[in-house]
Amino acid sequence: MDVITTVAALRERLRGEPSVALVPTMGNLHAGHLSLVEIARGRAGCVVATIFVNRLQFEPGGDFDRYPRTMERDRELLAKAGCHVLFAPDEREVYPEPQEIRVTPPKSAAQLCGDYRPGHFEGVVTVVSKLFNLVRPQVAVFGSKDYQQLHVIRTLERQLNFGIEIVAGTTVRDPDGLAMSSRNGYLSPQDRARAPGLNQVLRQVKQGIEAGDRNYASLLRVARDTLDAAGWRVDYVELRGRATLEAPTANERELVVLGAAWLGKTRLIDNLEIN
Ligand code: PAF
Repeated sequence: MDVITTVAALRERLRGEPSVALVPTMGNLHAGHLSLVEIARGRAGCVVATIFVNRLQFEPGGDFDRYPRTMERDRELLAKAGCHVLFAPDEREVYPEPQEIRVTPPKSAAQLCGDYRPGHFEGVVTVVSKLFNLVRPQVAVFGSKDYQQLHVIRTLERQLNFGIEIVAGTTVRDPDGLAMSSRNGYLSPQDRARAPGLNQVLRQVKQGIEAGDRNYASLLRVARDTLDAAGWRVDYVELRGRATLEAPTANERELVVLGAAWLGKTRLIDNLEIN
């Protein structure tokens, strides 16, 4: 695997590559990320993973400084997973001058996580646009745990005509149901034991709706109350239509339930599609 830190070397390395698949990450890799590399390997001859902790997408007072940086381990994991190129630039390489030009995220970003993380999706779509332009892949693979991010990036790709196929990887979970996340490492042992609770309440909503319960408001209230009672601080538990990420209409059948909640200083998110 080639490890590249500059834009010039990246362009040089990728010149003439007939098919490139991009896996953008912020590092601290786990099995979820590696499953995205696996998908990418099936889609292109050259897999480029990026590791860049993007300051622009952290809200003021967020966890940018304490976000785990584990480059040596990440590099080994990617090499073992069959990644061909690791692009791991520093901040000055990506933002050599103040990033005055920003991409405005779509309406679907102004809700859910967007309500609680001001500027987050602007930072995401701006850096993802830059990565698309730097790597110029045919395919880019993103995890489904960040469901709203995936939706917003699909809109970005479509509305700015990048001509890149966006592929979603399914969420990889620990055996107890907790969605893998770099932020799980922040959890104390006690909070780690409680953390599957988020997935459990989302499963209850999903099961209720799939069994025919149409009282969405009540199902969501029970989910939030259950988390509250178990000591979580709930940002949201909401139901959305999958196509638009808007509140579902009465007859909409393709739904997704999404949740974000805090255990101590750690914010976890998860979602489940409902059929
Ligand atoms: O999902 C992430 O890790 C980040 O938001 C991404 C897509 C790599 C952009 O920084």
